[in-house]
Amino acid sequence: MMARKPPDIMPTCDVLIIGSGLAAFTTALHLADSRKIILLTKRSLADGASQWAQGGIAAVVSAEDSVDIHVQDTLRAGAGLCDEAATRFVVEQSRAMADWLISLGVPFSQEDHTLHLTREGGHSRRRVLHVQDATGRAIQTVLAKQVMSHPNITVMERHLAIDLITGRAIGGNERQVFGAYALDTVNHQVRTFAAGSTVLATGGAGKVYLYTTNPDTATGDGIAMAWRAGCRVGNMEFIQFHPTCLYHPRAKSFLISEAVRGEGGMLKLPSGERFIAQHDPRGELAPRDIVARAIDFEMKKRGLDHVYLDISHRSAEFILEHFPTIYQRCREFGIDITREPIPVVPAAHYTCGGVATDLDARTDLANLYAVGEVSFTGLHGANRLASNSLLECLVFGRAAARHILAGTPAPSAALPAWDESRVTDADEEVVIAHNWAELRRFMWDYVGIVRTTKRLTRAARRIRLLQEEIDEYYRHFRVSHDLIELRNLVLTADLIVRSALLRHESRGLHYSRDYPDTMPIAGNTVLNPRPDLICPGVCDVPPDAYES
Ligand code: FAD
Ligand code: SIN
Repeated sequence: MMARKPPDIMPTCDVLIIGSGLAAFTTALHLADSRKIILLTKRSLADGASQWAQGGIAAVVSAEDSVDIHVQDTLRAGAGLCDEAATRFVVEQSRAMADWLISLGVPFSQEDHTLHLTREGGHSRRRVLHVQDATGRAIQTVLAKQVMSHPNITVMERHLAIDLITGRAIGGNERQVFGAYALDTVNHQVRTFAAGSTVLATGGAGKVYLYTTNPDTATGDGIAMAWRAGCRVGNMEFIQFHPTCLYHPRAKSFLISEAVRGEGGMLKLPSGERFIAQHDPRGELAPRDIVARAIDFEMKKRGLDHVYLDISHRSAEFILEHFPTIYQRCREFGIDITREPIPVVPAAHYTCGGVATDLDARTDLANLYAVGEVSFTGLHGANRLASNSLLECLVFGRAAARHILAGTPAPSAALPAWDESRVTDADEEVVIAHNWAELRRFMWDYVGIVRTTKRLTRAARRIRLLQEEIDEYYRHFRVSHDLIELRNLVLTADLIVRSALLRHESRGLHYSRDYPDTMPIAGNTVLNPRPDLICPGVCDVPPDAYES
């Protein structure tokens, strides 16, 4: 039996931010001069996808580019499903957000004293600002310093948010959020955080799949918490598979940036033959959904474990200058990318859907915001354009902050402590590990790049069984880090499968063999946990063809 600390004083703040990626940092830094902030993160400050971003940030900074061209590229990649107003809103602010990062000291790569812009799939212009091939690490390092040194920001690492607290807990307005419960994973104690506003910046859900480029933190927590609290989620079927993850038995989740293809990298079969032109005239720089599906097709047709990505025709000097991290990592596995091709496979990379928000990052519930990969803003449509994600974190982080600042700080309410009176310590932790592995395996096999209704239905059946088992476990035993994440993963998987089953067409990242055609009119898949709970005027998501 673990020793437990007595209940602590309830921490209160103006704004509770859950997460420590780019979305969280941007929101916090735009608020901190006039609001008291608590920033919770479930591992260390540096954990999250933002730290691992390689390619860079798409922004309109070149004379050969324009807002219109960037918008058009985004809409084209999104396969008819991007919200044009949201897309324009984001792209119009790209220059200002890039300037903000530069003003804080992010050392973007330069060539001849001007910003070096790289290219990625789906971009018709060079427009991706980057710091060699470790853009996320460079940005996060600069912003983390600012966050840590700001007197109004209290950072609490190893605090895993479990659930949002709505008015239901205090006999008040069910449509309002008052804070969150979080597990202090060092002291094994659930703490109650009261806040005027709460911001979900918890990232995506790549860990729902067996093979992913995502870090361990990407377990869909924010999506699951928002759903349980009563928020709509949209377009969860659109999981982006990145075409090129390093294939090596010892390499866990290592991405080979799309910028490698942007700078001339060629996809090849083991024979050395190129194949991508047979799938799309844009070749290696076709949007990601097309390239990932082409690789999957060739691997299945030929019984291959992987294909190759070859950049060795470029000079060693160029490769070392542009891709030092990838060079070094591959070297650790005995692959010299200046001389030989890199074995690669597609892997789950990005959650295009999420918690429905408007352009102020507001959700369906008052005082609850969602920013970054956790959200569904309408920018990504059926397939995110490469390097638009970091940009989305910046633009919506600032938008959420501006909206919060425009209001008067709501006083925090007295909230009930977490109730542990009916639970005991878990008896068999193996159940969690087993269910976790089972879920990720069948999601990969049945809900991957190519789907069928039969496979999706199979997955749905298994998810129901897992949900029953996990809910029972959750009701009877004290919460642990793994149990909380598993509960969220299974719920997120459920939302993905339900959304996929609702879409009777193939579009962007959702390809169904049973519905290979694309419908003439594009509609979002919006799921609603509580139709009675939508707060009119809080979050204005357009009506949809697929609303269930
Ligand atoms: P994250 O950076 O993932 O941060 C989420 C945070 O929330 C983490 O700190 C996590 O620990 C915390 N958290 C989660 N749940 C809880 C909880 N319950 N309680 C407390 N804390 C919690 N996009 C681009 O635009 N350009 C790129 O070059 C690019 N490269 C990428 C490379 C890789 C390998 C990966 C995985 C993604 C890449 N992406 C890229 C996508 C992009 O990095 C992410 O979409 C973006 O960083 C998400 O930022 P975020 O702040 O929303 O989430
Ligand atoms: C990459 O560098 O290939 C990742 C870019 C992205 O996911 O936007």
